[in-house]
Amino acid sequence: MRASAPGKLIVLGEHSVVYGHRALAAAVSLRTTVTLRPHEGLTVLGESAIRDDRLDAALALALPSRGYRVDIATDLPIGRGMGSSASLSIALLRLRAALEGIEPDFTWLHAEGFALEQIFHGQPSGIDHAVSASEGALVYRRGKKPRSVSMPPSTVVVLDSGTAGNTAELVAGVAARRPAIDPVLDRLGELVERSLPHLDDARALGEAMDEAHAHLAAIGVSTPKLDELVGLARRNGALGAKLSGAGGGGVVLALCPGGGQDTLRAARARGIHAFRCTIPCGGQDAHATEP
Ligand code: MEV
Repeated sequence: MRASAPGKLIVLGEHSVVYGHRALAAAVSLRTTVTLRPHEGLTVLGESAIRDDRLDAALALALPSRGYRVDIATDLPIGRGMGSSASLSIALLRLRAALEGIEPDFTWLHAEGFALEQIFHGQPSGIDHAVSASEGALVYRRGKKPRSVSMPPSTVVVLDSGTAGNTAELVAGVAARRPAIDPVLDRLGELVERSLPHLDDARALGEAMDEAHAHLAAIGVSTPKLDELVGLARRNGALGAKLSGAGGGGVVLALCPGGGQDTLRAARARGIHAFRCTIPCGGQDAHATEP
């Protein structure tokens, strides 16, 4: 039995979403796939592309304690702010639903996903696994029902800093800098509100992303490498670029409606792992659980 779920990119509003502001995020075409096979005795982890000491706790919470071997494959870079743990959580829940004969609608997946995401990220806002469960683009406010948003598909280039950020630590770092940085968190939230009515205006969205990156740097979650990748993308055709996710490493998201050839070429010439994808992507039919 096999199930999969997509990763995500936060377009605007990471970190400020933890404090009640809205954020905009979209599912990406890269997915995590979990396969369950019958196995004598305790449920065990088989082959896994995700190596994480919190994995055992997540499997114990999501699956029956006996009877299965669990194999995990993913297209996503791990720990790079692209929702690898959230996609794993949602794929595991789809399997649990299949085992229990439940039809896993969005509300069930989102509610159940919190406990799994807490294992990985402490006190997450819930945006990552909400997007993974929705398979589309969402406007998300903590504690409120997420709203699907119609966002014209955009070509983006993802530039990988090559290091992982620790979401729980980064969120705690931001918390420790409050209340001094609250005005910056407010500005991050305002950028989302200002951008939502004009999601079809790539130039305006790019400008908002540029501004968001400056604010994210001001709250201490960027790194010199992320700043360098943002600059490289902007100098090579991106309409806007910012870190995406918790920061401290992870990826930069560059908006490149023309296809991003120049951005990709410039990144690869410097040995940076960079790839193109379209956001949002997927759709409700993309997540079927296969027998
Ligand atoms: C992580 O992808 C996004 C953060 O805003 C944390 C969260 O919302 O839980 C940094």
